[in-house]
Amino acid sequence: MLDTPKHPTVIENEPASARPIRSMRNEGARIAVEFDDGTAGRLSMRWLRLACECDTCGDTASGKRWLTPADVPADIRAASVEISLAGEMSVTWQDGHVSHFAPGLLAAHIGSASEAGARRFQPQLWSSDLAGRLGRFPFDAVVEDDEALFHSLRALRDHGIAMLTCVPAEPEATLRVAGRYGPVRETSYGKVFDLISRPDARVAGETARAQIPHTDEPFRYSPPGFIFFHAIRTGAGSGGTSLMVDGFQVAEQMRRKNPELFDLLTRHGVTFHREHAGEVFFSAEAHVVSLDASGAITGIRYNDRCLAPQAGAVEEIDGLIEALAELTRLICDPANQFQHQLQPGEVLVFDNQRVLHGRTAFDPTLAVRHLRSCNLDRDGVHSALRTLARRFAPQETEAVLYQGAIF
Ligand SMILES: [Fe+2]
Repeated sequence: MLDTPKHPTVIENEPASARPIRSMRNEGARIAVEFDDGTAGRLSMRWLRLACECDTCGDTASGKRWLTPADVPADIRAASVEISLAGEMSVTWQDGHVSHFAPGLLAAHIGSASEAGARRFQPQLWSSDLAGRLGRFPFDAVVEDDEALFHSLRALRDHGIAMLTCVPAEPEATLRVAGRYGPVRETSYGKVFDLISRPDARVAGETARAQIPHTDEPFRYSPPGFIFFHAIRTGAGSGGTSLMVDGFQVAEQMRRKNPELFDLLTRHGVTFHREHAGEVFFSAEAHVVSLDASGAITGIRYNDRCLAPQAGAVEEIDGLIEALAELTRLICDPANQFQHQLQPGEVLVFDNQRVLHGRTAFDPTLAVRHLRSCNLDRDGVHSALRTLARRFAPQETEAVLYQGAIF
């Protein structure tokens, strides 16, 4: 509730919106707002003037925007504020400019200012128990029905992983379903990459050896956002079980049990590289664990097989290697692994900046293992999620999503 004002400018509201404004009070540099549901708070006048999206000031979503922060003086004040017949806040500024603000915008901003992090999406962490929570979505539904697609995008947001089923074996089907989630990234391996065990393996994925769970391509400045693994042929019974690890869960374990080592992974640069002589040479120095401004984990990049000899002061380097060793031990702990034997027609979709993937060894003389893979950029998938949320769950549209391995 707001304080009782000495000389209030309180205007009773016309109930005309989903979250009507009950009262407002002009306090000079700030405006106090109370809503009918009892929530209340203050907004800065400078913020409010900059939030104007009238035809003169322009629109920030499209970028056809003409008002800049430098155009709004620190001492800007409203000459008058009132609640319009439509239930909006109408402000007449001292220079005569008039702005209108929907109650929803004001409520959202007051909420985010009063409850720090309230708009940040909270991922649901998992370990070996994922099977009961893993979202499964049939190919036909995801390809034909936007609402089913939205539910699968939500599963990807919540758990960083989802499964598609009954996906036809043709390469067109892989691309068709992946394309529903965003533009497919073309890499030096092409748009679609076939992982088949072969004696002349160029990358570890083409061998039959076990792979410790890892994120793909940490040696790129911007690693793949989401990966599709389409099982075409699998050697059921001959090994090759997929091992999936929630990197956020493992990192949080490390933060609890060993905060000094966790801290090193968030602030010490680690170099990953990949070179095929005469063709490509990728190298990136980045943090293994990325944090946002509130300290929440936003992304992981880690692949033990791509670690370059690390650079660092001799006093710190042993600590860094111990941090990488501890992370590797946690990743290899079966209690942290969801294990699944892929069946033909199944597609595992996962967030490559959160979920680590690996597999057990298999016997290439017993079965051919053929997975088809493609990569999508993170922002394309999140754009699809937000666009569909506008239609199917508007209240989720503006949530701040974890933005990946940003540094
Ligand atoms: Fe991989």
